[in-house]
Formats: sequence, structure tokens, C-alpha cells
Amino acid sequence: MCGIIGYVGNKSCLPFLLEGLDALEYRGYDSAGVSLAYGDGIDTVKSKGKLAVLREKLEELSPPISFCGIGHTRWATHGEPSDINSHPHVTPALTLVHNGIIENHASIARELVERGVSFISDTDTERAAYLIDLCYSECKDPVEAIFKATKMLSGSFAFGVIFKDRPECIYAVRRDSPLIVGQSENGCFLASDVPAILPHTNICCRLDEGVVAELRGDGISFFSAPYTRIEQKFEEIKWSPEQAQKGGYAHFMIKEIHEEPMALRRTLEHINRDGLPYFEGAERLLREARSIKMVACGTAMHACLIGKHMIEKLARIPVSVEIASEFRYGEQIFDGGSLTLLLSQSGETADTVAALRRAKELGIPTLAIVNVFGSTLAREADEVIYTLAGPEISVASTKAYSLQCAILSALAISLSLIRGRTDEESAKALFGSLLSDLPRLVDEVLAKEKEIVRVTDKIYSAEHLFYIGRGIDYYLALEASLKLKEISYIHSEAYPSGELKHGTISLVSDGTPIVALITDSSLVEKSLLAVHEVISRGAKVTVICTDRISREHELPECEKIILPDAPEHLLPVVTATAIQLLAYFTATKKGLDVDKPRNLAKSVTVE
Ligand code: G6P
Repeated sequence: MCGIIGYVGNKSCLPFLLEGLDALEYRGYDSAGVSLAYGDGIDTVKSKGKLAVLREKLEELSPPISFCGIGHTRWATHGEPSDINSHPHVTPALTLVHNGIIENHASIARELVERGVSFISDTDTERAAYLIDLCYSECKDPVEAIFKATKMLSGSFAFGVIFKDRPECIYAVRRDSPLIVGQSENGCFLASDVPAILPHTNICCRLDEGVVAELRGDGISFFSAPYTRIEQKFEEIKWSPEQAQKGGYAHFMIKEIHEEPMALRRTLEHINRDGLPYFEGAERLLREARSIKMVACGTAMHACLIGKHMIEKLARIPVSVEIASEFRYGEQIFDGGSLTLLLSQSGETADTVAALRRAKELGIPTLAIVNVFGSTLAREADEVIYTLAGPEISVASTKAYSLQCAILSALAISLSLIRGRTDEESAKALFGSLLSDLPRLVDEVLAKEKEIVRVTDKIYSAEHLFYIGRGIDYYLALEASLKLKEISYIHSEAYPSGELKHGTISLVSDGTPIVALITDSSLVEKSLLAVHEVISRGAKVTVICTDRISREHELPECEKIILPDAPEHLLPVVTATAIQLLAYFTATKKGLDVDKPRNLAKSVTVE
């Protein structure tokens, strides 16, 4: 995710651009840049780092006043965060900002190189910029050039473009990435999202896919094809700027949970090669792995446990999971053929980075799964796989965890094919259901909000609570419990159901709240034994199970959250959404600051 802003009108554009970028920083913050258009050319200033770095650079340079400009705040997906990879990207004829991923960038680059183009950045965006430049050099019409070039692109994009010989106009187009335009008495605005322009206008138009907009100081024209003008619908936005930044949601956390289906589609499509998961660069490491040690902290460590379960089950490769802060000083015994797999949303967690360096010192191959492009783990690991969750703002990790679980499921499928544990047809069927069924199933869980809110009545006033489960449900219980304690401050413990009787059951008395996760169909009877045991000691139980389990088994009279049925390798992600919602609604019922829980930081970069 990146943020785009543009303004053309009768005022100096730079303050509008910087204010807009400020409001969009939640969409990406590894680099930023602006292009300012003048009658005799375009000035572009950009830099790696937060917006503050760009501001400083601009203060030093103090560029002359411009009335037409575009800006960008970046969240890298191709090419690490650097000055050169930052947007806008400049070609001889134009300057361009982009949000999205151009999937066929490599083939476009090849064609452009044949025609004499040389690139200076590692980005997919620069390729698209040169493609539009090339089309423009042939037709000399901005709208036609954009139509022609975008037809050749696959992937997602929202573009803002200024042509050097049209410094009084901004052109915009989008596919699968958001883009809005707005108009005020002082000019016209372009942005990825409403908050960037809300201080100036609340009359906005969400650009339809494939429509090209031409923004001038005095108005906006829309084209559905070259020279074919159309109308677009404008609407009145009634949100406050803060509400708008959260997309109308009360908190980033709930917004991010609702982004899961989209982020799953994006991440899984990215690794889809002819119906099978493909991990570019990492294939050799995967082929050579005889055992895997997974290392991470917090929520990412819980995702490792889900990965362990899937990889051992599907590929029969032994996997151990270690907390990074323990790994870095522990005795490490590796056999030949070991692979260290490091998981992290930020890619900057100090303990995980130290664990990576330790593994490298020991000469063990390292593979990182991270969400932040160009982060320390991504740069230092031998190979890297990205989850494309976009920026996660809320301290409590939700969409990043769900994507980690999904990508580990895809990794397990790939490993099982490599190890000859499954054939191509079955692997395709398993991956196919991840691709097409999982986002839909997560949507179904999101629709169960009312059911989940009702359950929070039973737990929000508790001081202590237990999550219990067996097998993979125990691993999910660990994450459910962490999520709840992080944001609701309820003391919560996760326990394997079968282990309760060896001690912890002594804590169960009248009214003790217990949430039992029962999604593993092979362990239902065993899980229910534990549920009856705690009920008979007075526990107030809530069961989270699948629809099929609720129909085929006699469940006790208690609160229930019924999940949609799903194949085994999809269930962790489906369940994850429910436990995240349960934690969220419990915390909001207590009136707590969900996005910034006390004592916690989003990224812990010190030991
Ligand atoms: C912090 C965050 C957790 C996160 C953990 C690991 O403790 O509060 O939400 O799970 O770091 O972060 P990482 O970026 O490495 O996934």
C-alpha cells in the first residue's frame, strides 16, 4: 500500500501535498517524494525515510511556488526503500506516482530495454512510467497514451501523472487500487484516500476502474476511452478527518481485520504460478531442507506454531519453534540440511534479527517471511518471502498473523510436493482452495460480528480467563489469549485441554470463563471431555467450533461461535479472524484504547 496525493489550482501546491502525505502516512512510510510542475519543467524531490526527512530536504531546497504537483508516500514492494526507488519516478516526458503492483514488470522492462530505455531504479513503477512515456511519444495525447499503456499492464495500479509539456494538468487512472478526486473553489485534488483532501473538500468521486481523469485548476474531465468524455458520480463525505483515515472504522485494528480477505487474495495471488505456490529465490532452500527451525517473537511466533503443524502434517519435515529471545543465547544444535525460518511482520524485531545473525554465524541457511519490504531481516536473510499485508498500524497484529498462517500453509503444500508426499494435482487442489475459498470464508466470519459481540458480554468483566484447545486449536488458543490480554488487559492463559487435569484445573471454580476452541475434527471427542470436566467445576464456557462439528456432535448448552466449514489447511486463518474479533470487541466494550495498548510497542527494536 502506498499513498498518492495531487493538487492543481490557484494556490501553492506544496503545502497541500505535504498535508495530504501526512494524512496518508498510515498507508506507507518508508519513503516519500513530490514533483512540482512549472512552465519550464518539473522539479522532483524524494527521499528514503519518514515524511519528516522529505520536509527537511524541501526546507533546505526551498523550491519556487508551483500550482500543480503530485506526491507519494511509499510502502515498498519492489526494490528496497531508497532515494532512487522512491516515487515520483521521472522519465524524459513525465513524472509519475503509483500505488499497487505491476505483475508483468519484467516482460515490460525487457521490451523497453530493447527500445533503448535504461532504468535507474529497481521498481516495477519505473517500468510503467517509461511505458506511458513511450506511448506518449507516439501519440502526443496524454489520455490516449495512458489508455494504451495501461492496457499492456497486468496487476494493480493507481497512477498520478504529470506530463512535462502539460504542467497545468494531472492525469489519473486506477485498477484494483483506490483513487479519488475532489474539487474545491481553489482547485482539484487527487488522493488514494479521503483523509488526504478532506480538510479542503468533502465532495469526492471514487474513480471508476479504467476511467482516466484529467484534473485542471478549473475542473475535472473523465474519459472512458480516448476522446470519449463521461460523467462520474460525486458524493458527499460525512466523516471527520480522523474517521476517514480509519476508513470509517472506529480503530485501525478493526479496519485491519476487515482488510484480511483483500490482503489474502493479494499475497496468495503473488505466489501463484499456474495454480501452484512458487517462492521465487527460496526454492533451492526449500528443496534442501531436511529439518526446519522456526524463530520469531509474539504473534509471529504463534504463526510459526501453525506452520509447524501444517509442515509436519503435509510434508513430514520435522519443525521446531523457538522464541527468538531464547534462541539467540540458547544451545543450538543443527544437523546438516537444517533451515532457519524467521517470521516477522516488521522485519526489525531486535531479538529476531539477532537470531538470524546467530544462525548465519553457525552457517545455517536462513529464510525470512516478513511484511516490510527491505527491512533488516529481508536484507540480511539468505532469501525472503513477503506477506503483502500492507502497513499494519494497530499494535496488536491481526492481518499480518493471518497472512503468515496462510503463507505457511502454502509453504507446507509446496514442501509436500517437493518431498513427493503429494502429487501435483492434489497440491493444486489444496492451493486452489487457499486462493479462492479462504478470502470468502474470512468474509463469512466477518459477517458474524453480532454473534461475537454477544459472547463478549460473558467475558469483558472477567479478571481471568482460559482459552483451551488440542492440537492446532491449542496453537490458536495461544494467539487468542495473547490478543485478548494485549488489548483488554484481562489476564488470560492458553492451555492444552488434555493437560488441564495435571494442575491448572485447580484454578477452575464457579463462573471461571473458559473459551474452548474445537475446530480439529479428529480431536472433537477429546476436546469435549475437557469441556465437560470444566463445566462440572462451574466454568462458564464458550465454544468456538465449525458448523459441521456443531451439527455432528452433542455440544453442551453454552455460548457458541459457529465458524463456517473449511478444509483443514484453511481453518487456522478462518478461526484467527474470529478470535481477533472477540479480543477487539471485548476491549472496546471496556472502552480501552485498542490501537495503542499500554506498555506495548508495534515494533520492538531493542533487546
Ligand atoms: C511486538 C508487537 C507484537 C509482535 C511482536 C513481533 O511485541 O507488539 O504484536 O507480534 O513484536 O513483531 P514482528 O514485527 O517481529 O512480527
